[in-house]
Amino acid sequence: MSTTQTNKIEIIKATSTKINDVDFDNLSFGAVFTDHLFECDFKNGEWQTPVIKPYAPILMDPSSKVFHYGQAIFEGMKAYKDDKDAIWLFRPEENHKRFNASAVRMAMPEIPEAIFLDGLNELLKLDAEWVKRGNGSSMYIRPFMIATGAGVVANPSDEYKFMILLSPAKSYYAGEVKVIIAEHYSRAANGGIGAAKAAGNYGAQFYPTNLANKDGFQQVIWTDDATHTKLEEAGTMNVFFRINDTLLTAPTSERILDGITRKSLLAIAEKEGLKTEVRSVLASELVEAAKDGSLKEIFGAGTAAVVSVIKGFSYKDEYYELPKTDDSYASLLKEKLTGIQNKLAEDTFNWTVQV
Ligand code: COI
Repeated sequence: MSTTQTNKIEIIKATSTKINDVDFDNLSFGAVFTDHLFECDFKNGEWQTPVIKPYAPILMDPSSKVFHYGQAIFEGMKAYKDDKDAIWLFRPEENHKRFNASAVRMAMPEIPEAIFLDGLNELLKLDAEWVKRGNGSSMYIRPFMIATGAGVVANPSDEYKFMILLSPAKSYYAGEVKVIIAEHYSRAANGGIGAAKAAGNYGAQFYPTNLANKDGFQQVIWTDDATHTKLEEAGTMNVFFRINDTLLTAPTSERILDGITRKSLLAIAEKEGLKTEVRSVLASELVEAAKDGSLKEIFGAGTAAVVSVIKGFSYKDEYYELPKTDDSYASLLKEKLTGIQNKLAEDTFNWTVQV
């Protein structure tokens, strides 16, 4: 291993690479990681010297608060390579902002942009060869922070670890997606942590999603906890509906994540002249629209899956299949968004940032 210091980041290079063992055409989402990771610890009230080092397990005290009280947050981002082999990030400052908002909600320290973004840039430069181009390839980026302070007293930790992992990716969901509308379980509640990208929000979905899987549905459409009538998110994504020619999605709230893909798709839709409405969509409205044929499309939107077309939904034990569309909004928006992300189309929004 060789050790150098760049922009105050200590860099310890791996002595060998795993890249030749990876089948980049057949990647399972989130299963393969690059040779290096970024790490920065928070101790004595401040962030310590960041380090990029070979990807390896970490040693932690079993009483670390993350294990007992779930102080853990993360982000999902992607990097893309253009035809000149330059690497680009998509709206990275939005992820940094949201990460810090999640940190505040979970009583964790905010992280300076200089650590979050410079660390990510340096890591991507070091593992640049792992970023592939074309055919839906991207580098999924997982920044996260956990409470590492020892002791099971139930109060916020005074020590934290921030890390960034890189995972080469193709598509997230294989095959078609059928969803069930939640009538009992909730993803989030007013006053809760639904708007934060907190690890527990995702862990809490696993059980109801397992139940849905047993009934043949891949994902759950989450409804508001108070009435279970408003359609809020789909699986780990924001959700869009097309009724006639109007594209609808719920407003962000304390229960709904302010998705970067969500707001980018809305901006693209508006630029493309599509009619958009940001308002609560009711389960009953969806059923009516499915029955009278005005419901044209449902799709999830998130960093990992980008746009995930939903083929049908179940509500109150009735299944409704969506018709085939020739002029799919999901396809149009996905093409426009990934065109910008992959530097195949002009980025009129100035969303892409070169590494
Ligand atoms: C993302 O789209 O980045 C997500 O948060 C989904 C993740 C849970 C895989």
